[in-house]
Amino acid sequence: MIKSIQWTGETIRIIDQTQLPERLVYRELRTVEEVFDAIRRLAVRGAPAIGIAAAYGLHLALRGQEFSSREDLLNRAESVVNYLSTARPTAVNLRWALEDVLQKLKSHTGTPEEMKQYSLQLALDIHRDDEERCAAIGRYGAEVIQDGMRILTHCNTGALATGGIGTALGAIYTAHQQGKRIQVLVDETRPLLQGARLTMWELHQANIPAQLITDNMAAYAMQRGMVDLVIVGADRIARNGDVANKIGTYNLAVLCQHHHIPFYSAAPLSTFDGRIASGEDIPIEERPCREVTHIWEKLLITTPNAQCWNPAFDVTPASLITGIITEKGILTQPLSRAIEKLNLNSQIHQNNKELIV
Ligand code: MRU
Repeated sequence: MIKSIQWTGETIRIIDQTQLPERLVYRELRTVEEVFDAIRRLAVRGAPAIGIAAAYGLHLALRGQEFSSREDLLNRAESVVNYLSTARPTAVNLRWALEDVLQKLKSHTGTPEEMKQYSLQLALDIHRDDEERCAAIGRYGAEVIQDGMRILTHCNTGALATGGIGTALGAIYTAHQQGKRIQVLVDETRPLLQGARLTMWELHQANIPAQLITDNMAAYAMQRGMVDLVIVGADRIARNGDVANKIGTYNLAVLCQHHHIPFYSAAPLSTFDGRIASGEDIPIEERPCREVTHIWEKLLITTPNAQCWNPAFDVTPASLITGIITEKGILTQPLSRAIEKLNLNSQIHQNNKELIV
């Protein structure tokens, strides 16, 4: 399986996702500043993956420094958490992972040296934990995929975006492994082409039949009966079930309602934000204009100095979502009730392991 992030013993080795599919390039991140930059530039991307990278980044920041006391180390850890959290604002997994490590460091009573070592253990735990969550999401997600289905997906939600097989793409991998004959329609995902560059690359590696379409072809594909199911990922899910995900997801949900096609979002519980009541409160990242005015930052496709707007995510209202596939099972309507049962607030720093849906 593709490993988008690995801990080498001293550095974080990532697949530089800005280089795919042209070149498979691995990069070593040695400092917290390099981690921040890799997250911001989308060299490492996808909600769970940026949380994992940030947790290792926090360890890198601590391991390179001497501390006179626990408090000294915790002050530094707190400032690194605040710094890394700002790399990208929408995916809550980033802050979730950093806060998880910070809370656990605060309750550790060892020496600064032991705490540094512990911070690595916590990052490794978050990484392994995400791998397990993906496997479980894959198993639940495969239940909604029938033999012969044509599935449309958006952005990249696979091994590149997570610590395991992925979320929405994890369900597709699992169904394929179960012998179900499936076909995937892949939205190119303008402006940064995660679908065309990354999902097509992953599906090709896995020998899963896939066809690329531009984002504006989805409606016609549905009208012609070419889509049986849509599965996407999520970057943050509010308490009422509203889902923030890659820009263009909301379009698909509206289209699915019109065409009576089931629309699922797949995400680990680390993507649920118990502090946010509805999608209106989710901060939406706005990225540089150049990503819209240029194809993959290379080719100018409009007038020089054209004005533009570049929101990286949108919010799909809970009412348009058939179900949310998690590692604990599939949440169905009414989503707000299903999410309430998760009791997210009390579980926020417990790795969500004992949750029962
Ligand atoms: O801007 P990106 O490429 O990080 O956006 C990623 C997405 O929107 C994914 O759908 C989401 O993070 C889920 S990844 C399992």
